[in-house]
Amino acid sequence: APLDHRNTFGVAARAHSLAELGDASALPELFTRTEFRERPPLVLGGGSNLLFAGNPEAAVLALTGEDVRVLHDDGVAIVRADAGVQWHGFVMHTLEMGLAGLENLALIPGTVGAAPIQNIGAYGVEVRDFIHTVEAFEPGTGQFHLLDADACAFAYRDSVFKHEPDRYIVTAVEFALPRTPSLKLDYAGIGDEIVAMGITAPTPRDVADAVIAIRRRKLPDPAVLGNAGSFFKNPIVALAQAEALQAQYPAMPVFRGNDAATRKLSAAWFIDACGWKGHRDGDAGVAATHALVLVNHGHASGQQLLDLARRIADSVRARFDVAIEPEPRVIGAAW
Ligand code: EPU
Repeated sequence: APLDHRNTFGVAARAHSLAELGDASALPELFTRTEFRERPPLVLGGGSNLLFAGNPEAAVLALTGEDVRVLHDDGVAIVRADAGVQWHGFVMHTLEMGLAGLENLALIPGTVGAAPIQNIGAYGVEVRDFIHTVEAFEPGTGQFHLLDADACAFAYRDSVFKHEPDRYIVTAVEFALPRTPSLKLDYAGIGDEIVAMGITAPTPRDVADAVIAIRRRKLPDPAVLGNAGSFFKNPIVALAQAEALQAQYPAMPVFRGNDAATRKLSAAWFIDACGWKGHRDGDAGVAATHALVLVNHGHASGQQLLDLARRIADSVRARFDVAIEPEPRVIGAAW
């Protein structure tokens, strides 16, 4: 089966076997099939966080369930959504129900099932802040689990699902969403955007609209120009290295993390400083609007995009002595 339309880079790839499952309760039965038992399948959501640098050797599994249900509602609502639900549609649906929390995470491509895997985050909010539990199937034991936020071991762009990539298959997520908003407006121009929109008492929906406007300006729409969002994670370095770099480059952004001994730096800033923004090698390029986004101008192969990514990372390491790592999962090649 072709995977060209199942990855937002739009690169060519093929699966030797592809299963679509609307009902996750059929997973134990699926795993009686040899091609699923022999080797853990590649679970595909919206395909917005992977790069096919080759064809997947494993069978491909897509969970297509789209059920959304409110399980409980008193001040904080518990909302359960199947893995196959489109993330942005879900965010807007919760806002329409008068539930707050996910507004800063509007317009992120992909599915609900993918959200906890990389702990999606934007504009000062991470999805972990609103995850109640993650429902997951463990092929190794044949068991379904309900993992609470601690068991998910969330960190910046990280979770147990990344540490143990093939152990669990996320089948649904339960979110805890408050009816009383506490808006986060301090990050990356959201407050300014709201002022520019002429709004003085913003609602969560207004914040989502501001986020949507900012993202549309900065991030290419994968439906128009193939990409997987940020291709690199922002590097986390020791405080001393951050301070030394900042002394040398006063304009370099430095973000405080959870940990006093480290700082998060801006991969986009390093890449931009190395002159890559808007660069193009054939159809593989760097977005002109954001240095962190690799783009496919038409017929780039995954391998060409990966080669470009390696050259970018090498140049950042050579000039700043900082290692940057891919954020999407690279299939069919080692980083
Ligand atoms: N910058 C540049 N050049 C650029 C773009 C940015 O120098 O071309 C610098 C600027 O100083 C800017 C700073 O980088 O102020 C931060 O840029 P931005 O606010 O766009 O955020 P980011 O750190 O580059 C992260 C996430 C994005 C998320 C934004 C907003 C990662 C890997 N990326 O990007 O997430 O939308 O913050 O919160 O953490 C994604 O993961 O796919 C993604 C788009």
